[in-house]
Amino acid sequence: MANNLVLTLSHCLVLLSYVAAILASPALKGHYISREPQLLDFPNERLYRAYLVIQRFKGTITSDPKNITSTWSGHDICSETAYLGFYCDTPGQAKILTVTAVVLNGYGLRAPTVEGFIDQLPDLAFFHAASNNFGIGVPLLAGLTYLYKLSVVANDIQPQVSGSAGAQGTFTAGRCLQATINLKFHFDTDPKKKSKRKGWGAIPGATDSKVLLLNYNDLSGQLPSNLGFSKVSYLALANNKLTGPIPSSISHLQDSLQEMLLLNNRLSGCLPHELGMLTNAVVLDAGMNQLTGPIPPSFSCLTSVEQLNLGSNRLYGEIPDSLCKLAAGPAGRLANLTLSSNYFTSVAPSCLRLIKDGVLNVKNNCIPGLANQRRPAECASFLSQPKTCPAATAVHAVCPASAPAPADRVVKDYSSYVTYATLHK
Ligand SMILES: *[C@@H]1O[C@H](CO)[C@@H](O)[C@H](O)[C@H]1NC(C)=O
Ligand SMILES: *[C@@H]1O[C@H](CO)[C@@H](O)[C@H](O)[C@H]1NC(C)=O
Repeated sequence: MANNLVLTLSHCLVLLSYVAAILASPALKGHYISREPQLLDFPNERLYRAYLVIQRFKGTITSDPKNITSTWSGHDICSETAYLGFYCDTPGQAKILTVTAVVLNGYGLRAPTVEGFIDQLPDLAFFHAASNNFGIGVPLLAGLTYLYKLSVVANDIQPQVSGSAGAQGTFTAGRCLQATINLKFHFDTDPKKKSKRKGWGAIPGATDSKVLLLNYNDLSGQLPSNLGFSKVSYLALANNKLTGPIPSSISHLQDSLQEMLLLNNRLSGCLPHELGMLTNAVVLDAGMNQLTGPIPPSFSCLTSVEQLNLGSNRLYGEIPDSLCKLAAGPAGRLANLTLSSNYFTSVAPSCLRLIKDGVLNVKNNCIPGLANQRRPAECASFLSQPKTCPAATAVHAVCPASAPAPADRVVKDYSSYVTYATLHK
């Protein structure tokens, strides 16, 4: 009995080692198991990890009209001919080749979400995917450590993507950018070159930034409540179907946020006090939503803002003096304050001048004595509805300490803003 048992066991062992031998044999693997690239096929572990993330995302894509994802196979992620839409560079001190940019403009891809994709590529500096269909949600980018100095320069004459002089990346002649947007992206890892870039109009302060451009993507769901704990500088989510409030955590983007487009979604709730904490923001655009409430006094802290659009919402109350003062004098940077198609009922005296100068647009509101206002019945109907947002009682807001805005105010063309430029097709 005992002998038998031993024999059986040793048979098992032989069988087991035979199976192990089959699995380990490279020749057999090539024949019977599909040739999956292994860690050792990649220049480094980061690219192998990126490979796994890309393959997982590829598996969730349900529509690919241009057959783009057929190029997303094999181990050569950084090649010019494979992995269309992926770009590599050697950022930071480590100089390790890694995926730094994903540009999927106009590929018409459909996937339920980009969560688990772009937030899992830790060296990603730039994600641009206009006109795809990426379903639910905006991924939280807090986990990504951005290693670059990135400057994004509008260039109407010669649209192209250029590699940086310092890094030998493969972020070269834009295969897909050329047709869709007039922007020149310039990666530079050398801080000494900073001054050179000024000459061709780099946007200052865009260091340690992240760029997330997801206009026209059929995104639905709410903005993540912890959105503010990312380090995004350019956030463009225009023309989607996002719902719910602007999260109050947004104030934590105070240091990083330069431009934010929330234009044309279905955002609702009260205009948050915390938006006024974005003292470095140059563009804030939440037009064409269902936001309500008065303008919080904190908006007087927006000392860098040049374009402020809250048009076509359900805002009410007074257009405050402190807000209009952001456009006044040589230090005033506000060049376009769009508050049209709301339910404001009065306007501070300092704002009248701005209306005259074409800086402030208050058309289609409920302001007595001004031209082009809503019909009284329409105003009465809106104003009789219960109002639940906090009243704008405080006259002076406590503003966060911030670096003073640069003294030389330049009147910029609308399309010279990074996020607005990406709206043009
Ligand atoms: C997609 O591309 C692959 C590889 O180039 C090719 O084998 C396949 O037939 C293409 N499919 C379609 C639908 O064009
Ligand atoms: C001001 O902003 C609104 C809303 O973004 C835009 O439609 C308009 O063209 C802008 N005006 C100027 C002169 O830039």
